[in-house]
Amino acid sequence: MTILVTGGLGYIGSHTVVELLKNEFEVVIVDDLSNSERFILQNIEKIAGKKPAFFPFDLKRKELLTQIFDAYEIAGCINFAAYKAVGESQEKPLDYYENNLFTLINILQEFKVRNISNFIFSSSCTVYGQADEMPIDENTPLKTPESSYGKTKQMGEEILKDFATAYGRRVSLLRYFNPIGAHPSALLGELPIGIPNNLVPYVTQTAAGIREKLNIWGNDYPTEDGTAIRDYIYVVDLAKAHVKALQKLITSNEETVIDIFNIGTGKGSSVLEVVEAYERANNVSVPYEICERRPGDITIAYANADKAERELGWKAETSLEEALRTTWEWQKYLESRL
Ligand code: UD1
Repeated sequence: MTILVTGGLGYIGSHTVVELLKNEFEVVIVDDLSNSERFILQNIEKIAGKKPAFFPFDLKRKELLTQIFDAYEIAGCINFAAYKAVGESQEKPLDYYENNLFTLINILQEFKVRNISNFIFSSSCTVYGQADEMPIDENTPLKTPESSYGKTKQMGEEILKDFATAYGRRVSLLRYFNPIGAHPSALLGELPIGIPNNLVPYVTQTAAGIREKLNIWGNDYPTEDGTAIRDYIYVVDLAKAHVKALQKLITSNEETVIDIFNIGTGKGSSVLEVVEAYERANNVSVPYEICERRPGDITIAYANADKAERELGWKAETSLEEALRTTWEWQKYLESRL
């Protein structure tokens, strides 16, 4: 069975491609290399022992996408291709709406005319905003995200719900909490462009001496140590959730399915806890300074991921420290390639 994976050379996409190949799926990757590198394709092959088909183009080029659907019997899609920088999305909202939503619609148009079902969408816990209660389950009320990035996730969910309902198709919306870590082989991981925005890549670059110190954005939050709390999910565990979600769609007897799953560990960790776990796991030092809060940041978010366990037979298995160890191994691998 052949699955189209858009953004399949990106951070979460590449790990998911490996899991799909391990589970005997054929994979066709479309990735325009705007936030990924070609060597990832070779590394996927090294890990999985199989090479996915790869086409480097922008999914806004509808005529090229049509050719892929003509050439392969696509049975489903996992759609990772999207811009994901929150700050940048505030400066370039139109680019975010165009890139994240036009490409989604282009794929769905192909699905519609060819009668294809089984679509998995990368959503985000950002759709909940600052929830009133913890943990966050799938029935927690949504709040309009502040960023245009977040809005593309919420709009993407709505587009997919309408698509599934109107045409009788199966879709799964996976709301990721904070993905971290790298493949245990150290051949795949996150490749931040420029100065990282996210916590773990910044901590890694600080430990590596690339950044002088970590800026901790606020220690006056109403939490035990005053720093903000998130649910850090290991990227390989996250990748496995996609395979489980896909298998559920494929084996469903229903014509129309709209699945929504939180993909997190169920455990919240503060910024300071992450820093300490990083230092412990890797025997490194991460100098930091406490700074003002970052605008738009929430205090606390962690998942209730019981639904994924109940309905997908999936749960996070990897500890924070283990995930942080793989991050450091990946950093050393990147340095060895220089
Ligand atoms: C961010 C996005 C979110 C997106 C997610 C993807 C914002 C407001 N939200 O979430 O929409 O889905 O990334 O992973 O950007 N921190 C520091 N110093 C740093 C970096 C981060 O103290 O240099 C803190 C932040 O204040 C936050 C925590 O670390 O409390 C996690 O930050 P980050 O990794 O950027 O993720 P989120 O803000 O949760």
